[in-house]
Amino acid sequence: MKIIMARNEQEMSRWAAERIIETVRTRPSLVLGLATGSTPEGIYRELVEDHRINGTSYKHVVTFNLDEYVGLKPDHPNSYHTYMKTRLFDHLDFLPQRTHIPDGNAADLAEECRQYEKHISRFGGIDLQLLGIGRNGHIGFNEPGTAFDTRTHVVRLTESTRKANARFFHRKEEVPTHAITMGIASILSSRQILLLATGRAKAEALRRLIEGPVHPDFPASALKQHPDVTVLADASACRYLS
Ligand code: F6R
Repeated sequence: MKIIMARNEQEMSRWAAERIIETVRTRPSLVLGLATGSTPEGIYRELVEDHRINGTSYKHVVTFNLDEYVGLKPDHPNSYHTYMKTRLFDHLDFLPQRTHIPDGNAADLAEECRQYEKHISRFGGIDLQLLGIGRNGHIGFNEPGTAFDTRTHVVRLTESTRKANARFFHRKEEVPTHAITMGIASILSSRQILLLATGRAKAEALRRLIEGPVHPDFPASALKQHPDVTVLADASACRYLS
């Protein structure tokens, strides 16, 4: 696991965006795994800005998002469909049929999960997966205790995750109780992984990731079993690293 420390969030976002842009330029049909949440917002802004100025094209890029809430309509302001549309997809030349986000409204959620995995395989697997990290070590919505061999599945969200995500909703009660998420095994199948962390709120999680044992109690620790993971974090998130 390689660790790169940026001075601040802005620098982290710029470096991550540069890596994505470079990869898309050398491999236009890149299969890119995307995350939502606060951490990648600056990166998406950088990608939009680069597209506007330099015209980097995403026409051939295929994307797979990590997760989506169960029960929110795609056009709900807090759905990850809306997040991706407003932060990224509407501003670049992605082809809608090449962008994928789990359907949290599918009548048969288990079947949706199976189909999602099949789609990923059909495109040859994910080349580069972006990840954030939860304070409790979750990646995607894989909460502590998730087995490392899980593929895309439905999860019940923990209270701590619902509380953390309540900032995007009017009231905590509105935060959905379930989500569809790529599993830990799905994430580990990506060829390269870029884990992003910013701010002091993530410092303890980063310390546990780097210094702690590999154990399902801390899902991100599974990444230590992957041969090509880069952790890109700002100085605040690295404050407890020795
Ligand atoms: C988002 C996701 C989550 C977040 C994590 C960190 O698609 O899968 O695992 O990456 O909750 O969220 P932020 O970036 O908001 O701190």
